[in-house]
Amino acid sequence: MILPANDSGSVTWQSPSNIALVKYWGKIPVQIPQNPSISFTLSNAYTETSIQYRYDHMLKDGPHIDFRFEGQEKPAFAKRIKQFVATLISSFTWLSHCHLHIDSSNSFPHSSGIASSASAMSALALGLCDIAQKIEGKAWEEKRFLAKASDIARQGSGSASRSVYPHLAMWGLHKDLKESSNEYAIPYTKGFHPRFLTFHDDIMIISPKEKSVSSTVGHQLMENNPYASTRYAQANENLAAIIQAMQANDMDTFGRIVEEEAMTLHALMMASRPGYMLMEPNTIEAINSIRSFRAESNIPVYFTLDAGPNIHLLYPDDVSGEVQAFRESSLRTLCYNNTIIEDHVGKGPKKIS
Ligand code: DP6
Repeated sequence: MILPANDSGSVTWQSPSNIALVKYWGKIPVQIPQNPSISFTLSNAYTETSIQYRYDHMLKDGPHIDFRFEGQEKPAFAKRIKQFVATLISSFTWLSHCHLHIDSSNSFPHSSGIASSASAMSALALGLCDIAQKIEGKAWEEKRFLAKASDIARQGSGSASRSVYPHLAMWGLHKDLKESSNEYAIPYTKGFHPRFLTFHDDIMIISPKEKSVSSTVGHQLMENNPYASTRYAQANENLAAIIQAMQANDMDTFGRIVEEEAMTLHALMMASRPGYMLMEPNTIEAINSIRSFRAESNIPVYFTLDAGPNIHLLYPDDVSGEVQAFRESSLRTLCYNNTIIEDHVGKGPKKIS
């Protein structure tokens, strides 16, 4: 590869958040998942990241990074980004001769408690891969570009690997899926009933507070969790079964697995050493209410949780009228400041410039 003496420019990418149906929880160094996971890619909750770069072959000791979040310095996030980009020098040697000015913003409010590492790290990874093509004078075909961006995103945050694809993505080796990999996610909608591509995800903000235990620490605590090996076996079974359910339009099995995954994630937290709990009283109230409504109405509406107290209300578009009426009458008042962020399965990242 022959690099130019100097180059500069800028790129901007928007990348969405995602919600896991089968969860990634537990990893081995460096960012290799203990089990495969699958998620819906969202649409309205996204991060937009612009990177202005200046490459100068005379410049040493880079990358020199200047990071702003919505125009402000954010030291904790800047530190994580600097450490992450520094680890990419082995893939992108030009980074050590680069100045990067990174500006990032989210489409959702800061205080919403939505995990933003998936959207943030995937937007950054897409931008860096785009710059790599320019500086290295390459044009990867789309599939290769996205696999590379997914691999880079994974190194920043595991769940971010899945955000680079539209609709649904799976990440992590599974014995039945030859294309699967621990290093990058793959798009996965093979044979799925179209109903699953219409899913809504209403994110009910139960609490906007920063989590008392971060996901990074949560993953670490899986190392001596007494249920770890059973959990990894269960995730492999659930992944195969949920794919089959989506192919067969078997909503009941889909919903059973999604809710089992959410409950298992939180049960693992409670059974960690030391144990902890991220659900709030209103999380439990909402779960009970969703389950009673479903039992009485037979309408396919389910919940999942990420590593926090917020509820993701999942339902196909063909029942949105009934579910949204129920949501307004029974769920909204359980949310902090009545906040619900309406999202749905989306088309994946977008290059803005
Ligand atoms: C519960 O991807 O945030 O949302 O790799 O340490 O950045 P790091 O962890 P992260 O973990 C996500 C955990 C989860 C489940 C999931 O998205 O699969």
